[in-house]
Amino acid sequence: MDMRKWLYSYRLGQVRQQLGFVVPLSAGEYGEVSQWLPAAALALFKTMSPADQRHSLRVCRGLQDHGCRDRDMLAAALLHDVGKAGGRVPFWTRPVIVLGKKLVPGLLKRLVVYPGVQHTQSPPGWPFKYRFLGTPPSGANGGRKSGGTPETPPGAAPLDLAFKKPTLVSPGWRRALSYAWYHAEVGAELAAAAGPSQRAVLYIRTHHQADGPAAELHKIDEVS
Ligand SMILES: [Fe+2]
Ligand SMILES: [Fe+2]
Repeated sequence: MDMRKWLYSYRLGQVRQQLGFVVPLSAGEYGEVSQWLPAAALALFKTMSPADQRHSLRVCRGLQDHGCRDRDMLAAALLHDVGKAGGRVPFWTRPVIVLGKKLVPGLLKRLVVYPGVQHTQSPPGWPFKYRFLGTPPSGANGGRKSGGTPETPPGAAPLDLAFKKPTLVSPGWRRALSYAWYHAEVGAELAAAAGPSQRAVLYIRTHHQADGPAAELHKIDEVS
């Protein structure tokens, strides 16, 4: 597709919504969201911008329209972009990441580093402080065990949550780009502290992988 055509077609609806042309969720819609999320995770959901909340609800509904009844997948749909919340990912970063991936992927990869979640401030109304799971961060993989949370359900294969060690990133524009690039991983860390299952956390972390565990979510996300 030629670049101009692609630029015009690139999620124009999403751009309009991010600029403020979006109807915030109604009380009834929050009720719908709360069917799939525990209370702390609902509070986390509400830290997203109205546009991202609406996008996430669209993804959740889209999955159900395609026959998905997996509660972990539906919870993940609602939280998959929560790493963008709390002002971590300003709007300008979104087209920069999309264009950068297409035009200068090597440069983009050199610019971004995993920022973690602890450098952000708790948004107003945030009911709990962010905490690392497992052992305090030190050494490889931030001192965390692969799997991030203590137990794996009996008989289930261990989930590879494998959170990365965060790095202090400056200046601000580079941090913002890094959060945009790593929002799936950051969202997974935030969600892991808010109560959804390990599997839902895994789906959030892998929601950009077309052939990953959350392929179903990825497909709907691309068109929502
Ligand atoms: Fe995403
Ligand atoms: Fe998304």
